[in-house]
Amino acid sequence: MRILVTGAMGMLGTDVVAECLRRGHKVIALGRAELDITSGSAVKEALKVHHPEVVINCAAYTNVDGAEENRNLAMAVNALGVRNLALACRAVDAALVHMSTDYVFDGSKSGPCRIYDHRNPINAYGESKYLGECFIETVGGRYFIVRTSWLFGHKGPNFVETMLRLAQAGQSMTVVTDQRGCPTYTVDLAAALLDLIETQAYAIYHITNRGATTWYEFAKAIFDFTGLKVNLSPTDSNQYKRPARRPANSVLDPFPLEETIGYLLPPWQEALKRYLALKGYQTA
Ligand SMILES: NC(=O)c1ccc[n+]([C@@H]2O[C@H](COP(=O)([O-])OP(=O)(O)OC[C@H]3O[C@@H](n4cnc5c(N)ncnc54)[C@H](OP(=O)(O)O)[C@@H]3O)[C@@H](O)[C@H]2O)c1
Repeated sequence: MRILVTGAMGMLGTDVVAECLRRGHKVIALGRAELDITSGSAVKEALKVHHPEVVINCAAYTNVDGAEENRNLAMAVNALGVRNLALACRAVDAALVHMSTDYVFDGSKSGPCRIYDHRNPINAYGESKYLGECFIETVGGRYFIVRTSWLFGHKGPNFVETMLRLAQAGQSMTVVTDQRGCPTYTVDLAAALLDLIETQAYAIYHITNRGATTWYEFAKAIFDFTGLKVNLSPTDSNQYKRPARRPANSVLDPFPLEETIGYLLPPWQEALKRYLALKGYQTA
């Protein structure tokens, strides 16, 4: 297949490109310097020139707190940029695979969020991603909207890296216990995305590693697995204020992922161990 990847230098984009190459696809990997998705004409031109069968959009404005102040930029990339891609895909009859987020939900549900649950974002980043989903649905064509959550991968700043860095600096840490979600390894996500594309079963999906946890328990697992000794204490969102509110429960229900690709992703603990092992940690 000819697959064009946007945001190809980002944390997920890097692993998506690697997975495409591993499977022998022809990949057009475009970072922001090669294709800024906020330019409708540039997006149109790129798709006309490269004529991909599939476009995987890994480009996004991902600074959740920054989006509160830079709402216009978040909207330009995550909503209007996505509309540019949807329109251009429709024009060349390419399928669009778009990455979305658990933050389209408000977090008030007690159980896992289903693909068809009501979207009600509670921060500017979530609003911009929500609008991106809406634009794709309105433009139509062949698309996958794939929501994921709590990503960690080798190319990016992420929670695991932050925890390791602070631990190595000998800093004490307080981490919240009142936000639940599904940590997800970008390598596992990339493989599942490619399997999903092959089914051509266009729809909305939730793809995360299996199992749910809190940020506090996630941090504890990182230190348990690596044996790093840290002073870790629990806190909650009222005490640990951030510019953007976070959903309390953004656990994503995977139905109908297994029914579509034939499997669920490995548990997040197993994925975390593989990630740490590749970084040279002997995990317990
Ligand atoms: N990280 C998470 O925990 C998480 C959770 C749920 C969903 N997601 C979604 O998963 C996807 C991938 O996330 P990620 O963590 O891999 O993000 P990331 O590492 O921040 O990568 C995003 C990439 O998009 C690029 N980009 C930004 N603005 C652009 C523009 N106007 N045109 C083209 N490229 C642009 C960035 O380039 P620069 O670095 O040059 O700005 C960056 O390389 C996103 O859709 C995100 O919303 C992420």
